[in-house]
Amino acid sequence: MSTADLKHTQTLAALGVSSAEKVQSLFVELRARFDAESGRVTDENSWKALRDAWLGRKSGVLTLVTDNWLKPATPELKRAVGASLNELRAHVDIQVEARHTAIEAGSEATASAKDRVDLSLPGVIRPIGTHHLIRQVFQEIEDIFFSIGFSVVEGPEIETPYYNFEALNIPEFHPVRDDMDTFYVDLAKGAAQPLLLRTHTSPMQIRTMEKRQPPVRVIVPGKVYRRDNPDATHSFIFHQVEGLAVDNDITFCDFTGTIEYFVKQFFGPGVKTRFRPSYFPFTEPSVEFDVSCIFCGGSGTAAGGGTCSKCKGSGWIELFGAGMVDPAVYGFVKYDPKKVSGFAFGMGIDRLAMLKYGIDDIQVFFQNDVRFLRQFP
Ligand code: PHE
Repeated sequence: MSTADLKHTQTLAALGVSSAEKVQSLFVELRARFDAESGRVTDENSWKALRDAWLGRKSGVLTLVTDNWLKPATPELKRAVGASLNELRAHVDIQVEARHTAIEAGSEATASAKDRVDLSLPGVIRPIGTHHLIRQVFQEIEDIFFSIGFSVVEGPEIETPYYNFEALNIPEFHPVRDDMDTFYVDLAKGAAQPLLLRTHTSPMQIRTMEKRQPPVRVIVPGKVYRRDNPDATHSFIFHQVEGLAVDNDITFCDFTGTIEYFVKQFFGPGVKTRFRPSYFPFTEPSVEFDVSCIFCGGSGTAAGGGTCSKCKGSGWIELFGAGMVDPAVYGFVKYDPKKVSGFAFGMGIDRLAMLKYGIDDIQVFFQNDVRFLRQFP
């Protein structure tokens, strides 16, 4: 501050001011100084400094002017000083307030410019997921079976040997257990019973019949596990849909009719079907069910000549195992085998999906590569 700036710290007498005109010019000078300072206020902090410098109770300019100029003024000058001081105070009050309003408005303007949403900018594109192809095939199959009165049930992937084997008429040491190399759960010593990852969805036949009385018409989509080494057609985890229909008068004809209906819905009306005798401990008779090769139309010859690689020239593709429910199974669920009959089937979904969509490596279902998955939106 220059000495001129400090005039308000001295009395009028000390400044040698003795006339009303001089008093006025002092105030004009002071007001000009205030106007200059208030013009430099740009933000909240500098505004506060201005306010304190001029209106501060103890040592603000106006307080000092009151103390040094007004109070000790001679009676002749007091009126003039009082009037000018009032004017200056009114001016300072109004200006300080006005500056504050301006700063607040200004900071709001900059803030909202920062926050403003520019609707013309391209948005953040969040890719929408789709169902995995396996899930889509499950749904396709479910829809077909819904249309002929089946409903869907699901069951545990961790099973007891009883449901996975015994109750399906597969006693311990039965050779088919060798075909279903099984993952057993690593349990603590002294566990009540062993647990395993189900090797097929057939345990749900038992669980369903335990809970429901005939008529039963269900399909069971789900994951199953076998200790297979991974290659193009094997995976230690894969998917099955089990089917079970039990009632008082279900015949082998109902069975073949149902399965043929399904296959024609799924692959198209042109496919031919055939049964071959097979063996499962929980069905009697048991069959393997084949469809005519959908790649070579059943001819066994590829489009460009040579052997069809899909059916290896046989013209047939093996689809699933099935059969009439073995009466021994009814014993485990307390159904009367003399009164009820039914059929069951179990199909590999990965295989069906591979056939229908021309996929030649089962592993792609489990690799979660979006470039593969995106092909089936
Ligand atoms: N569970 C059998 C398998 O996984 C398939 C099957 C189901 C066979 C139902 C007959 C009846 O190989």
